[in-house]
Amino acid sequence: MLVKMDEILVKARREGYGVIAVSCFSLELIGASIAAAEKKNSPVILNINLKYEFLDSDQDLELFLYMARQRAMRSNVPVAVNLDHGADYEAVMKAISHGFTSVMIDASARPYEENVAVTREVVRAAHAAGLPVEAELGCVGMADASFRLETKYTESAKTDPGLVKDFVDRTGVDFLAVSIGNAHGPYAKNIVPHIDFRLLEEIGKAVPIPLVLHGGSGTGDDNLSRACRMGISKINVGTDLMELAVRKAQKGYEENQNMGRVRYLNHYVAGYQEGVEYYMDVFGSSGKV
Ligand code: 13P
Repeated sequence: MLVKMDEILVKARREGYGVIAVSCFSLELIGASIAAAEKKNSPVILNINLKYEFLDSDQDLELFLYMARQRAMRSNVPVAVNLDHGADYEAVMKAISHGFTSVMIDASARPYEENVAVTREVVRAAHAAGLPVEAELGCVGMADASFRLETKYTESAKTDPGLVKDFVDRTGVDFLAVSIGNAHGPYAKNIVPHIDFRLLEEIGKAVPIPLVLHGGSGTGDDNLSRACRMGISKINVGTDLMELAVRKAQKGYEENQNMGRVRYLNHYVAGYQEGVEYYMDVFGSSGKV
């Protein structure tokens, strides 16, 4: 079933589990994500970023979204197609016109009042189109400085709990991405981050809407399942799935080099699916359909 993200996340927040939002940068990974959800009887969110190179042209985006929506419609589990990290009002409007079922506006690196203004503008337009919106307060940066390729990813700044209610009230946003010690990408030397659960508790008390954790990879299973029980309803995961998929593809190739050449992609996709299934168990969404 193709659904809007609030249909998945409001229930998740109420019942205290999390739903994986999978970085999907190819059609095969959309298939893998939905296959995992069907196997685990779990909802799933397909996270798509307009900055993926293969989505450069409007035609490519139209085709990719068409395929994602069609695959979701043919499924018996709830699937949302979410714009990840919409850069500005124009990017979000473009995404809406191409059929995303929810959108993120990420103005988190801008000063607070600007973040409020842009988010409010996007919420007004998206709600008029019947779509829910995710925004970010505080800034989730890159885990490892050497991966800070984009200007946005300079520094992380934790969410100020004193601003949470004001931000949600003034913007009307449906889901809030928080910065509580989490970060995008791989951590240097595989260090497990310190998640500030006291801050999460404060944020969770301030607003009843579903909370979002970006940079789920490398955060540690115990941290993640605890966060889900405390109001984190959507967890974005990319890096861990890519690493698992690469390992699986390499192993498949080494075991059978002739067949491996042909099936390299299949092994990669199978690894991705395995990772999605694993996290559905960790986040507690398995069996929740
Ligand atoms: P990771 O690659 O660290 O899992 O982060 C993914 C993400 O947050 C996409 O928005």
